[in-house]
Amino acid sequence: MEFSIAPLKALSSLRSDCLVVFVQQSAEASGLLDAEAIDAIAAQARQDGDFHAAAGSTYLCNRPQGLAARRLLLVGLGPAPLDARNARKAAEAACVALKGRSAARVHVTCSEAQQPLFEATVRAFGDFAYVYTATRKPDAEPACLVSAVQLLVPARQQAAYRVRLQRAQAIQAGVDLCRELANLPGNHCTPTHLGKVAQDLAKRHKLKVEVLGPAQIERERMGALMAVAQGSHEPARFIVLRYQGAPKGEAPHVLVGKGVTFDSGGISLKPGAEMDEMKFDMSGAASVLGAFEAVARLQPRINLVGLIPATENLPGGRAVKPGDVVTTRSGQTVEILNTDAEGRLILCDALDYAGQFKPASVVDIATLTGACVIALGHVHSGLFSPDDALAEALLEAGRQTHDTCWRMPLGEEYAEGLRSRFADVANIAGRPAGSVTAACFLQRFAQAYRWAHLDIAGTAWRSGAHKGATGRPVALLVQYLLAQQAGAAAPSHA
Ligand code: BES
Ligand code: MN
Ligand code: ZN
Repeated sequence: MEFSIAPLKALSSLRSDCLVVFVQQSAEASGLLDAEAIDAIAAQARQDGDFHAAAGSTYLCNRPQGLAARRLLLVGLGPAPLDARNARKAAEAACVALKGRSAARVHVTCSEAQQPLFEATVRAFGDFAYVYTATRKPDAEPACLVSAVQLLVPARQQAAYRVRLQRAQAIQAGVDLCRELANLPGNHCTPTHLGKVAQDLAKRHKLKVEVLGPAQIERERMGALMAVAQGSHEPARFIVLRYQGAPKGEAPHVLVGKGVTFDSGGISLKPGAEMDEMKFDMSGAASVLGAFEAVARLQPRINLVGLIPATENLPGGRAVKPGDVVTTRSGQTVEILNTDAEGRLILCDALDYAGQFKPASVVDIATLTGACVIALGHVHSGLFSPDDALAEALLEAGRQTHDTCWRMPLGEEYAEGLRSRFADVANIAGRPAGSVTAACFLQRFAQAYRWAHLDIAGTAWRSGAHKGATGRPVALLVQYLLAQQAGAAAPSHA
């Protein structure tokens, strides 16, 4: 998908396969220049009861009278003021309305009063254009026939919009990489493959990378990661990516991504239904690689480290068993009461490893618990942090990018359930508050720095007919990291 910007003017003579105009619910007229024909069509549609500008509603007009454009698409924004959520809803509705239509070159108006629409449009059309073709032929009738989108923005602010376009496109590239990796089947996207992708990323963008194999993982004494990996013939990997955009001495931010390339549950085997979806259990890792793709393109003034423990979780003659006790990198012993609670095991060694960087912040991202899906559904990612300022920064980054998270509690009362008679800690507690007790387990290994945990079990992919990775929470992560630059001003737009 090709994006460009141009000054917003002369709409009636604009040649386009489709001119997309967003309309606020209460507004009598679009408020755009040279828009008499557009306003007349909108007024007629309202009068006829065909279009009331509810958020996400659309009205498509072929060969619109008084316009040079082949089509006019009116899209409702709902009531003012426009927020990031309605902007995204409207932009996605525009894509749906264009599904299967031969509109290669599309123009989208983005007026002064419609700020959040700019990023929302780039992201919606970017996501619309993504097609998975790694292991199948594309559909004979593709959904998206749009190949170029021109955003028409206020004439006086072209430079600012150019920067915003670059940002949104970099985030889109990160989201696309994340989706592609997460969508790959488990027999294609192995720990070895993730290591290669990290190396390729490093090569393309001049980043530092290390990919540790089983022998080096053992030398690091990552006993919990090794315990999960021992049931599989696929060798584990531990990936360390580094981006330097600030002076060497400046404390880095660290992202840690769960990279279970297939989670069968191990000896505590999962039921068969929907087990295929456990190929998505490396979505945290994919989001870290996606965030690096975006950061490397944008070159912000921060230092960043990415850590990815990658392994399969399979049953087998050598697999770790319920009741086994292992020694983690931190020295704490863990009684593995359920081998299906493997994410927290591989993450605890990575969180301990993160301490050596004396980080400014550490955020781990993981498809950690089914309980988080029960708690929050597919709307918000779960956010856990003892640090109010860090939590607020992540919540805000989520709101700005419409990639939201919701803060959940931590606390001694929850952590008590993790007590073990045979080790320093058990890897599971009872069924209640499962996503919280999982976060409490991680917290034990993240004491040395500011830390937050994102449980993306409900948000990383969609099930059903439209099964596939969403690319979340790449946008949230990149927005958060950009805001961590020294002297970074809070963005003026939503
Ligand atoms: N990867 C799963 C969590 C998961 C399950 C994500 C379903 C998305 C959908 C994780 O490794 C897991 O199996 N967690 C267990 C923990 C339990 C054994 C305490 C779970 O949620 O059932
Ligand atoms: Mn599991
Ligand atoms: Zn898992």
